[in-house]
Amino acid sequence: SMRLALAGTAALALAMTPALAGAAPGNPGEPRFQEGDPGAGDPYFPLAGNGGIDVLHYDLDLTYQLPEPEPAPLEGQLDGVATIELRATQDLHRFNLDLRGLTATKVVVNGKSMRFDQVDNELRISPRPKLKTGDEATVEVTYGGATTRPTDIEGALYGWVTTRDGAMVVSEPDGSATWFPVSDHPTDKATYAYEITVPEGSVAVANGLLEGSETADGQTTWTWDAPDPMAAYLATATVGDFELDSYVAENGTPIIDAVDPALPDSASANLALTSDMLVFFEGSFGPYPFNSYGAIVDDDSVGYALETQTRSFFSRRAGESTVAHELAHQWMGNHVSPGRWADIWLNEGWASYASWMWSEEQGRASAQDSFEDVMSIPADDDFWDVVVADPGPLCLFCGAIYDRGAATLHALRVEVGDDAFFELAKTWVEQYGGGSATTADFSALAEEVSGQDLDAFFQMWLYDAEKPTDW
Ligand code: ARG
Ligand code: ZN
Repeated sequence: SMRLALAGTAALALAMTPALAGAAPGNPGEPRFQEGDPGAGDPYFPLAGNGGIDVLHYDLDLTYQLPEPEPAPLEGQLDGVATIELRATQDLHRFNLDLRGLTATKVVVNGKSMRFDQVDNELRISPRPKLKTGDEATVEVTYGGATTRPTDIEGALYGWVTTRDGAMVVSEPDGSATWFPVSDHPTDKATYAYEITVPEGSVAVANGLLEGSETADGQTTWTWDAPDPMAAYLATATVGDFELDSYVAENGTPIIDAVDPALPDSASANLALTSDMLVFFEGSFGPYPFNSYGAIVDDDSVGYALETQTRSFFSRRAGESTVAHELAHQWMGNHVSPGRWADIWLNEGWASYASWMWSEEQGRASAQDSFEDVMSIPADDDFWDVVVADPGPLCLFCGAIYDRGAATLHALRVEVGDDAFFELAKTWVEQYGGGSATTADFSALAEEVSGQDLDAFFQMWLYDAEKPTDW
């Protein structure tokens, strides 16, 4: 790489030779300014995210027109201006953002129009002057297009999912590019601000705190502020018929819930547990990490819930264990995000384990009971075939990621004892909160906190494609 090429005294000497200005110091003939990689280097999603840049902030100014009434196809119209603050992490004559199914019409870098093109799902921007390592730039992309109902690698709805009354916006793992130009990998967190303009009567619900809404000429603009660093897949700008309910939870966190009034009361009744759950999880994971929380309960369905940051999304009904699961993700997955998608068990295992803990707290099944349920699955069941810490991109959300992931954490708790286990949970959040971390980071911290050699333990629970024998 360029960085390695810089090492050595010969390289330094060359770098000072004026004749070679513009060429790589340690590598004559290789141009100094390069193209950023089209991806962040994740083996499961090679084109997700982008090399050479670190996005600091997204300011998303969106205008959305709802689909025509049926039987017309379910297609909305999204027009946006994304103002992106980023920093170059290498010398760049070109860099990419991810953008899928929408057309960029104008790109301005530091106030000047720039050349750009779109190839597949990559928006390629050629900044002039070129960017040097450490340079910060403001990139304004004007874009838009018809919105559809995109699907992920497994065929599940995700991204900007058009509905009759708006859109459900849930982008795990790589669906954010269906609604804004983005560095779509959890290692590139940024802060967000939104101005979302929708037809009067519709509500746009995003992450963070609602700053206000203003109506003019039959259109309402909803302004949201999300200043806590966030992975792109956790961003939302869900639009629909919603009733907003705001209050302050017992731990002091401002709550904003958005519930579709078409749903029966039973669909959202469990949201009343949020305050107690916040207090309970703070006891195990440390202070709630964000400026707000709340839920979106939509009468449309993507077939799953998502822990959209500060504002968890539920399809049609928010069941109690799911309410606990998505809340626990705010610490486990959102504040500490996976370093690679192969580490997804750290999200799903922790969130599932947290809902086992909640069940025990409520005097129902204990964590040990839930663990035993998982361990009662016969050894020849294909449940045990999944390599939990490397499941492949088609098995990110397989049952074993959730249940064997949670069982792994319970077995770890039994192995190291409650004190070390809960110290590990809190230290994990404290040490990696605001960023991302891998399975290797987790096992190293578990060994450090417990003082035990856990190599064989993690090998058996996370890497062996068979039922653990010794527990
Ligand atoms: N993380 C979500 C949960 O809490 C699941 C997301 C599933 N996403 C998907 N594209 N299938 O369980
Ligand atoms: Zn989950």
